[in-house]
Amino acid sequence: MKWVNAMKNTAATLLRQKQSHEKITMLTAYDYTTAHIIDECGVNSILIGDSLGMVMLGYENTLPVTMEDMIHHTAAVSRGAKNAFIVADMPFMSYQTSVYDAVVNAGRLVKEGGAHAVKLEGGAAVCEQIKAIVDSSIPVVAHLGLTPQSVNAFGGFKVQGKGYDRAKQILEDALKIQDAGACAVVLECVPAELAKLITEKLTIPTIGIGAGADCDGQVLVYQDMLGLTAGHVPKFAKRFAEVGALMREGITAYISETQSGTFPAQEHTYALEDGVIERLREEE
Ligand code: KIV
Repeated sequence: MKWVNAMKNTAATLLRQKQSHEKITMLTAYDYTTAHIIDECGVNSILIGDSLGMVMLGYENTLPVTMEDMIHHTAAVSRGAKNAFIVADMPFMSYQTSVYDAVVNAGRLVKEGGAHAVKLEGGAAVCEQIKAIVDSSIPVVAHLGLTPQSVNAFGGFKVQGKGYDRAKQILEDALKIQDAGACAVVLECVPAELAKLITEKLTIPTIGIGAGADCDGQVLVYQDMLGLTAGHVPKFAKRFAEVGALMREGITAYISETQSGTFPAQEHTYALEDGVIERLREEE
């Protein structure tokens, strides 16, 4: 039997990066082509976020996303990425219902989707699930702060942990999910000083989104950071490129050249062998 160690980035890589103060990079991807580009650029980890419900499927929030959606997109990303640590989100109600459901559904994301790890939202309330999934040899990334699957409980997408009580709860949850065996934690939309304190207290890496510069790494939704998202984007979502504008420019040029007949030009067409057209015309 030949051992192919194709995975360049693993949970251990992220841990080593925290220990050596080398920032961890994570981006979302949901399809083969994008995953291939992101992976080629050298990102450490790709997250198939349940944000796909909003940015790929046009839902208002992440709640309608199903296991089938997650497996379908995770499998596409796994085929496109060769070096990144592939983390798949567990969708709403795929793990909250029972420890058994959590293990079965985490297993499906690995077996059918090719994920290396799963991510789930919550602290103390999901520690049993985290422990059971980790005991099944599947690494778990936790997610604290603004956990979008709790949008209805929070009453909207709001920054979490500004006041003492909630900040204390997030810190305690971070310690609990670490004890339960999580290999990393995403901190979403929490004040930077709280994220810094959690990063100092934990031995596992913190990956921030809207959580300041002191986390061990950063994650962004690729549509947000490439300028593809229409409408309001949160202030932490820095636009690193204007790909949406480039797409509009290209598509408008295609429409106009097709309508005017300048596309396709000679170089975009195939030629017949000599004499073929004459023979076909004669036979008419
Ligand atoms: O679903 C997602 O994309 C996420 C990131 C925002 C961390 O959970």
